[in-house]
Amino acid sequence: MTILSWKPEYSVGDAEIDDQHQQLFLLVNTLHAAVLGNFSRQRVLEILSDLVQHTEYHFHTEEVKMSEIGYTDLCTHRDQHHNLLRRLKEIETLYFSSDLTLGGELFTFIVGDLLLNHMLHSDKKYAPLINTSRSVAEWTSNER
Ligand SMILES: [Fe+2]
Ligand SMILES: [Fe+2]
Repeated sequence: MTILSWKPEYSVGDAEIDDQHQQLFLLVNTLHAAVLGNFSRQRVLEILSDLVQHTEYHFHTEEVKMSEIGYTDLCTHRDQHHNLLRRLKEIETLYFSSDLTLGGELFTFIVGDLLLNHMLHSDKKYAPLINTSRSVAEWTSNER
């Protein structure tokens, strides 16, 4: 059972970002399946760790792209990334340093706040600018 399924309307119109979002979906589904399937604690923590690393890498990719296109809300977006990543790392530390098992609250945060809310609201705001700057770049190179 997948907890998250990709839909075309989630696209921000940038292949690299869409690909990274889909990888995050895949990792969350893998983590969810591992918890439901009673995989070993070590395996669950490995997947959680992968999710933290991919999230950090993805946020960095977005921030570089937003900086390149001169996105005016970059500071606010970066703050959101910082807060989401801090919460995710706190969860990771908590599960690594205790014998707690991953539960519904964690998935509510990961699926709700980290992925869907942020991706559908904040990430969607920079999407038109990425597409505009790409169109201008293509138009400029075609003019040469
Ligand atoms: Fe994103
Ligand atoms: Fe973002």
